[in-house]
Amino acid sequence: MVTKKIILTGDRPTGPLHLGHYVGSLKARVKFQNQYETYIIIADMQALTDNADNPEKITKNVFEVVLDYLSVGINPKISTIFIQSLVPELAELTMYFLNLVTLSRLERNPTVKDEMKQKGFGGNLPAGFLMYPVSQAADIAAFRADLVPVGVDQLPMIEQTVEIVKKFNKIYKPVLVEPKSLVSKISRLPGIDGKEKMGKSLGNAINLSDSSDVVAKKVMSMYTDPRHIHVEDPGKVEGNIVFTYLEAFDPDKKTVEELKRQYRRGGLGDVAIKKRLIEVLENFLSPIRKKRAEFAKNPKAVMKILEEGTKKARMMASQTLSEVRRAMKLDYF
Ligand code: TRP
Repeated sequence: MVTKKIILTGDRPTGPLHLGHYVGSLKARVKFQNQYETYIIIADMQALTDNADNPEKITKNVFEVVLDYLSVGINPKISTIFIQSLVPELAELTMYFLNLVTLSRLERNPTVKDEMKQKGFGGNLPAGFLMYPVSQAADIAAFRADLVPVGVDQLPMIEQTVEIVKKFNKIYKPVLVEPKSLVSKISRLPGIDGKEKMGKSLGNAINLSDSSDVVAKKVMSMYTDPRHIHVEDPGKVEGNIVFTYLEAFDPDKKTVEELKRQYRRGGLGDVAIKKRLIEVLENFLSPIRKKRAEFAKNPKAVMKILEEGTKKARMMASQTLSEVRRAMKLDYF
């Protein structure tokens, strides 16, 4: 029997998924689900690390995130979608892993550092937040994932996972798998405000679930070249977000190249390129919206997908955990 390689990846259910998630990770998941045994974690425990006082937000978004998954083409018949908190083995493994990492190593994680700044914890940093990369390492290791398709901001987490897995295998027994990350070509989509990253909490995202009107409004407000004032002025394509998005979503690459040439030369207005982008995004998002609406009509069936996925995921994780316990000499009876 040839066993398939394993993918584990997922998201925090803190808000709707957006175009950045799509190019950074969702697209790869849809593509690879036929080839790899795919597990997708809805990381509600990780989401609570900075939302402890607002659990309703997390519960509500679990449902929205599953709808996002299903609507972009993640097939629940072949991919296993599950809820992190309902697999307690992950919390157990996190506890064992915490002894294999130092506090100063956790404080060096660049993504966590950025997030800490952005969220402005000041002196009130929750301990759970600082150590969430360890919990993420447990997510990945419990499924013995070979591959983790993620956006670039998640690379430090995979690095941390590899370190912990190596240490575990060396100290105890080699029962865990060192994962590799899989980053897409366009791995980071800028926000509509021109900021480096499109972010759930930055208010600069186009969501997969946004209506046509909202998408059009967001595109019209997009950052372009601030020095391109008159249509006849030559404009800059580099750093011009409208072109970045066209490159990511317009299937007609030749026309995009031609538009770039025209824009550079002068004579092509911002409204014209924005109109094209609206059309391109409509073509991309309208089948996604349709699928979403169909699944949303039947919330019971959606919850059933989650329930069954979670059952299957738990079986896998508990198998790994028995081996982990044996390796750590915690198999007392
Ligand atoms: N950190 C990821 C995010 O911010 C979510 C996540 C939790 C994850 N566990 C994971 C991603 C394991 C990949 C693998 O959305």
